[in-house]
Order: sequence, then C-alpha cells, then structure tokens
Amino acid sequence: MSTPRPLIAGNWKMNGLAASLGEVRALIGALEDRSPGCRVAICPPATLLERLACSATGSALEVGGQDCRAETTGAFTGDVSAEMLRDCGANLVILGHSERRAGYGESNSVVASKVEAALMAGLEPIVCVGESLTEREAGTALSVVTSQVRGSLPAVLAGRIFAVAYEPVWAIGTGLTPTIEQIEEMHRAIRETLTQMFGEAGRVPPILYGGSVKPSNASEILGACEVGGALVGGASLKAVDFLGIISAA
Ligand code: PGA
Repeated sequence: MSTPRPLIAGNWKMNGLAASLGEVRALIGALEDRSPGCRVAICPPATLLERLACSATGSALEVGGQDCRAETTGAFTGDVSAEMLRDCGANLVILGHSERRAGYGESNSVVASKVEAALMAGLEPIVCVGESLTEREAGTALSVVTSQVRGSLPAVLAGRIFAVAYEPVWAIGTGLTPTIEQIEEMHRAIRETLTQMFGEAGRVPPILYGGSVKPSNASEILGACEVGGALVGGASLKAVDFLGIISAA
C-alpha cells in the first residue's frame, strides 16, 4: 500500500462572498506554476461551492463541503445532503468539526452516520477529532481523541479513501499550537487506533493536523512524524498565506 500524497485542505467556515473567488483564481494560477507535491483543497461555504468547483475544473484544486446531513433527502430545512455536495462538484467533505460537535451537539455516532452518507455519495470524508483545553489539562487528551476516532469512523471505511484531522479545540483560531512532541504523540496514537480498527489498511489514511497552521509554522508541523497534511482555517482565506503553507508540504 503506497502512502498517499499529503493533503492541505482549507476550511473557509462561514467566510466568503462571490468576490472571494478572486483568491481561488490566484491560488489555481499559482498551483499551475508550482505543481506542488501535495493535494490541495478548499472547502468554501455551501453558497460558493458550485462556483468554486466551476473555477477549479481542469485544475489541481479539489473542492469540499464543510458538513452534510446523514439523510439523503427529506424535510430538513436548511440542511444539505452529501449527494447535493457531490452534485455541486465537491469530492471531499469535512465532518465532525469541533465547531459542529460543540455548536450543534454532534455526537460521535452522528458523525459516523454522516461519514457513511458521504461514502455513499462518493465523497472522501475528512473526519475531525480533538480535545478541549480542559481535557488536555486533565491529562485525558489521548483517551478523548482515540475514543472519538473509534466512535466517529464506521466499519465501512475499511479500505476506503478518507482522512482524519487532529484539531485540538484550544488551538483553533487562537494562534496557539501544541508542541511538536504533543502533535507526534497524538498522531501516533491515532495511527495505532486506525490499525487496530482497520488492520494494515489503517496505515494508509493521512492524519492531518489543524489548529492555527500558518506559513511560519507549517514546515515544522508538516515535517512531524505521522503528519500527513493540514486542515487550515484562517490562513486559507488569502491565497498568499495558503500558498505559504502549501509550499511547506
Ligand atoms: P484555524 O482553524 O486554522 O483558523 O485555527 C482550523 C480549523 O478550524 O479547521
């Protein structure tokens, strides 16, 4: 089984209007010039997904959603299904982000059903896990995160293409990052859990790091053991910052 290329995915969260597509065009142009050794994706708000996917057609840029509903259709006002994301041109979807777990009460089992829906629709899930500051300070970070991995990844993922993103909640949008030792310790624990769950196939999925990744810390973080890419929030909104991270991969 060959190791997949690192994945650098930008999570725009609830940011971006039509004018932001200029950043995407700048990013696509730069990717053409540089042909980076990693996969690059942008996950915009649903309102921009189709336009961004159109701009990215024929380029190296991949496009993802930020969440989906587990059900395929129905009376779920305001929600978007995995098939709808795929229909707009997405090939990836972020699931179980801590902002969804905390803000919408998404449990591991809800995340796991969304992962199943994503696979059914032909989307590659990026499943997020991560401890809170209280859990880190209480010394329970490893057990919290490995139990999120066990609970959020359904058995049907065996042999399928997916990624896990380790995002300590206290590092998201704060400018704080764990030490490289803390990142490596957690990524090793996630890898071990993946191999316990999926056997040899558990060695393949990239484990991304997310939380205050920026051009100045990207090469150290991306060079750490078992770090297979990054999930980037704030620093993915401007092409120049995002490219600084991509070139470190
Ligand atoms: P940040 O967000 O890079 O702005 O810290 C990361 C994320 O929430 O995925």
